[in-house]
Amino acid sequence: MLSDSINESSKQLTKDGKLRHLVSLENLDKNILMRLLFEAQEYTQFKKLPDRIINHNQEHTIANLFFEPSTRTRASFEIAANRLGFNVINFDIENSSGKKGETILDTVMTLKSMGVDTLVIRHKEAGIHAQLVQDIGDECIIINAGEGHISHPTQGLLDLLTIQQEKEAFEDLTVTIVGDIAHSRVARSAAQGLTTMGVKELRLVSPKEFMPSKKLTSISKHFTNLDEGLKNADVVMALRIQHERMEDTNNINLDNYIKNYRITHKAMRIAKPDAIIMHPGPMNRNIEIESSLADGEQSVILRQVANGVAVRMALLNQLTKNHEAQ
Ligand code: CP
Repeated sequence: MLSDSINESSKQLTKDGKLRHLVSLENLDKNILMRLLFEAQEYTQFKKLPDRIINHNQEHTIANLFFEPSTRTRASFEIAANRLGFNVINFDIENSSGKKGETILDTVMTLKSMGVDTLVIRHKEAGIHAQLVQDIGDECIIINAGEGHISHPTQGLLDLLTIQQEKEAFEDLTVTIVGDIAHSRVARSAAQGLTTMGVKELRLVSPKEFMPSKKLTSISKHFTNLDEGLKNADVVMALRIQHERMEDTNNINLDNYIKNYRITHKAMRIAKPDAIIMHPGPMNRNIEIESSLADGEQSVILRQVANGVAVRMALLNQLTKNHEAQ
């Protein structure tokens, strides 16, 4: 049974307000976000640096536990940890004792007993990371690598870094997120981070059936009309329809969705001429985004992927230092 009270931002901080775990971007202090973005920006130069740019204690072991599929997040956590000199294991969920009925808590306790220090976890269950922080957070670092439709904080951080590299100041920006907002952990974490960074406008565009039941943040505004949402936008983020999070997908009228919500060259004419196009991946080309737009000059989609390594390096480095200072 997961309690609401443990989902407070303070649970992921040390007593003196430093980041101890990463569960959520919600209500996370702007200074913490800025410190992570600053260090991540330095790591974006990593191709010019030696293979292992920080030699952390190689006794510190990071385990990647992905209970849902991943390409970008899992690979970038592994690359980031290797770059920092950590010992990394990619836990094979499909062939693990979870398939014989072992609970996630028993699995992580087992790994902890073998000497795992940091657990990077993707799981469909809402609240699982906060629960693990409560249960074993004094001994291990817990990092949320995707929590059902609820949150994906490292994706939110890499989205912030990508926007910061392209645009002058968050305070001047209109950011528009288009697609299946209701089922998107990416939209939630991006909205939380963008709200903390103080964007001028945050617009969420979707058909009624993909609209969340409540506002994502205090500043988010919902639109059902794509043109209204895109007008003079500086940043446009397209989202995939999350079929895997719906019980019944028969009611989705894909032709209608493509006609009214696909981000195309034509649709982008109403946004600012220098607007950037983002997508967290994986993309369904020519459904939520016109394929040539995804590969075009305005697209920063592959930059987002590259920034994912830098952001996860900064996060692992800071969390480990904060843990060691305890
Ligand atoms: N954006 C994202 O989380 O991608 P993966 O599912 O490939 O990790």
